[in-house]
Amino acid sequence: MASFTLLVNNQSYSVETDANTPLLWVLRDELGLTGTKYGCGKGLCGACTVHQNGQPIRSCLTPVSTVGKSKITTIEGLSATGTHPVQQAWIDIDVPQCGYCQSGQIMAAAGLLAKKKNPTDDDIDAAMAGNLCRCGTYVRIRKAIKLAAQKTGKI
Ligand code: FES
Ligand code: FES
Repeated sequence: MASFTLLVNNQSYSVETDANTPLLWVLRDELGLTGTKYGCGKGLCGACTVHQNGQPIRSCLTPVSTVGKSKITTIEGLSATGTHPVQQAWIDIDVPQCGYCQSGQIMAAAGLLAKKKNPTDDDIDAAMAGNLCRCGTYVRIRKAIKLAAQKTGKI
């Protein structure tokens, strides 16, 4: 066991855990941030996507010991009130079906739009390819990303 100080959603947390513990389990089990989901644990589904310094990462593959002073953002911290343009577009288009994959989808989409204000279909495909949805909401996800881009012009 070792001690780690993490900056998550602009809040500092101290946790005691094994250095190899995936960030996903620290977020969910130690910090109670259960919006980030476990899907495969192997980097294959994207359900566990969070941001590290603004970049989407797979928290299931990220040992807590590698996080250091980087800034972690989860779905709970994407906006204070759930009104991030991507979240708003998701509501407007009514994207989710079962919802399980959706926090990962939203974090991946927010990461894309932070880099590319007006992504093309190819940009969207490339950014979202690793985020799987068993309910097949891909068409609505693409629509919502375009709506978020249109609505804001800048994210
Ligand atoms: S749970 Fe991390 S990619 Fe599937
Ligand atoms: S909405 Fe059910 S897995 Fe994506």
